[in-house]
Amino acid sequence: MERTNLSMSSLKNLLDNNRQWASERIAQQSDFFKRLANIQKPAYLWIGCSDSRVPANEIVALDPGELFVHRNVANVVVHTDLNCLSVIQYAVEVLTVKHIMVVGHYGCGGIRSALLNNRLGLIDNWLRHIQDINQKYRSIVQAAGDINQQVDRLCELNVIEQTLNVCETTVVQDAWARNQPLQVHGWIYGLNDGLIRDLKITMDSADDMPGIYKRAVEDLHISL
Ligand code: CO
Repeated sequence: MERTNLSMSSLKNLLDNNRQWASERIAQQSDFFKRLANIQKPAYLWIGCSDSRVPANEIVALDPGELFVHRNVANVVVHTDLNCLSVIQYAVEVLTVKHIMVVGHYGCGGIRSALLNNRLGLIDNWLRHIQDINQKYRSIVQAAGDINQQVDRLCELNVIEQTLNVCETTVVQDAWARNQPLQVHGWIYGLNDGLIRDLKITMDSADDMPGIYKRAVEDLHISL
């Protein structure tokens, strides 16, 4: 079998880019990397979608060292996902971030596949979590309009659901129980305009979680 000759030059471009980027950083601030290498103290944990169009640091103009990031397909927070839970635990207990934001985005391919019940392979099992949310909020999703609007509505509902999942982790519950300052937010990013919308489900204690959650879902009826 003939081996496909993957272009070496494309990766060389990336390495060239990297050298240029590093030298530009040093030109701006000579101790940039020295300072970063010694301490990591970000104030934020970003839980977002793996989508290549949603680059976390870039969107909120934060430098290396300022944003702790976890991304997976469709920004799902599952209570048995050791990877995501470990990120949350490390961020909250070791880095002591002040904010966790779950950041979905409109037009999410994972959400669309879940809604249309597409068969893509192994990932269908992961997206089953999204289908559960769709079933839970079927009437709200269907009332959104055409299929694109339904996808966007489900993107919003997914953020609200996953934000609540973050709040319900033992890590966040324990942090609040010991009065550690920690806010959890639900945001959604627009691929078309580059803007983030706050879905107003910010929680900073175990009090009134169901109330905030309920209001956030109700507000969706009028916001699209
Ligand atoms: Co996505």
